[in-house]
Amino acid sequence: MLKKTLIAASAITLSAFALTACGSDSDGGADSASDGGGDSMTMGFAQVGAESGWRTANTTSIQDAAKDSGVDLKFTDAQGKQENQIQAIRSYIQQKVDVIAFSPVVETGWDAVLQEAKAAGIPVILTDRAVDSEDTSLYKSFLGSDFVVEGQKAGQWLVDNAADSDVNGDGKINVVQLEGTTGAAPAIDRAEGFADTVKADDTIEVTASQTGDFTRDGGKQVMESFLQSDDSIDVLYAHNDDMGLGAIEAIEAAGLEPGKDIKIITVDAVHDGMVALSEGKINFIVECSPLLGPQLMDIAQKVLDGEEVEPRILTEETTFTQEQAIEALPDRQY
Ligand code: AHR
Repeated sequence: MLKKTLIAASAITLSAFALTACGSDSDGGADSASDGGGDSMTMGFAQVGAESGWRTANTTSIQDAAKDSGVDLKFTDAQGKQENQIQAIRSYIQQKVDVIAFSPVVETGWDAVLQEAKAAGIPVILTDRAVDSEDTSLYKSFLGSDFVVEGQKAGQWLVDNAADSDVNGDGKINVVQLEGTTGAAPAIDRAEGFADTVKADDTIEVTASQTGDFTRDGGKQVMESFLQSDDSIDVLYAHNDDMGLGAIEAIEAAGLEPGKDIKIITVDAVHDGMVALSEGKINFIVECSPLLGPQLMDIAQKVLDGEEVEPRILTEETTFTQEQAIEALPDRQY
């Protein structure tokens, strides 16, 4: 219901933007001037980086939505470093942008810079990832997924498919976990949701867990070391598709068949992950939608118009089995 209302409101505000479009600066905007408060909205967006297919799709969604809405977007890529994001936010404050949005690399350590934005009267909107701050007045809204629920869905699939997941047939299901970036909300929450859910079956045990930093290379390297130290891995749970895809390379190089000799569960449902699922190399994917751009532009306009916005706006998501991936792939947007 809320989503429908937002979409309807979006149609009105987006056409208003189109009349006052002033272009977008999406190649690092820290050095570009802002008119801060003309007819069109100027948004400073501090992105995490380009670590995964998900992130690339998210950046495209934000840049396309800004363009379609006539929003003047200042965009920076923090290359996975919190200090770069903080620097970008400070630069947006100096430029007096109308609104700041960002997806925090990690959960903690944001209060000081968010207080600076608040003191400058610039509203902040969180997208994709949350900050761990007791002062919720430091941001207007948080738009994104519930990562705990994503972890629960991954865990529930394993509980439901436990009989088929004891690949080694020893009565135990040994799970190795590829974690996302240490300290990032999706890494913390996806681990928590999964661990809580698999408690329902005491044959399931997470025997090793290490970060692959949400990257394909990281997933490959960590999986290589898991395979070297343990020859009884039944299941891999990777916090995103890219790490799962890197791990598939390591599994194949070790002479094993991904999806059969080791069952694989991932999160995201980006194109390459869905292809691997359709081929049976991944067994189950929990969707995490990166298409946040249109809703972000809509929320930002409402905030600037002085309208009330929900403090937490959840993204709608599903899950995919092999059959569902085959069906969904032709229409997949990312
Ligand atoms: O914050 C969302 C996560 O960040 C995605 O699941 C992952 O692929 C990305 O790097």
